[in-house]
Amino acid sequence: MSTIIAPSLLAADFGNLQRDIEMVNESEADWFHLDIMDGVFVPNISYGMPIIQAIKKHAKKTLDVHLMIVQPERYIETFAKLGADILTVHYEACPHLHSTVQSIKASGIKAGVSLNPHTPISVLEDIILDVDLVLIMSVNPGFGGQKFIENTYKKVGDLRSLINKTGSKALIEVDGGVNDQNISALKKAGVDAFVAGSFVFNHKNPTEIISKLKSI
Ligand code: DX5
Ligand code: ZN
Repeated sequence: MSTIIAPSLLAADFGNLQRDIEMVNESEADWFHLDIMDGVFVPNISYGMPIIQAIKKHAKKTLDVHLMIVQPERYIETFAKLGADILTVHYEACPHLHSTVQSIKASGIKAGVSLNPHTPISVLEDIILDVDLVLIMSVNPGFGGQKFIENTYKKVGDLRSLINKTGSKALIEVDGGVNDQNISALKKAGVDAFVAGSFVFNHKNPTEIISKLKSI
């Protein structure tokens, strides 16, 4: 399977959002990564429903929605109606994770689970067969532009072993500090999908950078 590149719109220019969405549409990117933050689960607030609606209107690719919010189960239907294709919740925000994952799938979308940097892969042992995607945070969630945490390689290896052992079909996605220096080793460790925010949008030629990441 070829590498999936998911530019994070958190790093886009919100004054020129349509332009940046069209750039992703026309690029070799595969998904749009949408970061939803509530100021409670993480110490930052990003954007909400009207912006997601506007993104959906123009985006022609898979919407990969990353919920960094408490009690995400309250909004599953809302995000399904807004057009999310993949809905990822945080393990740390879900005391009833199995139930939340089942609700996401029942609403007709793919279910992802995300782990903070300190959360070990072993917590997924009894849910891995139910999820479509695992999002490993390679920075502490809340902000773009942070430094990649090196322990991520070990976690990707642990997750790849768990997936192989169980026969799970889950995709492995990594989020935070992804760039042209770490993508190749991450790919070798078994990552399927890469979120890239500042590395793409802070570049003078984002289309070219997407193409570069895609070809590594
Ligand atoms: C961080 C978000 C990321 C962020 C990545 O909490 O989940 O998706 O946008 O940004 P970069 O690629 O700049 O680390
Ligand atoms: Zn994210």
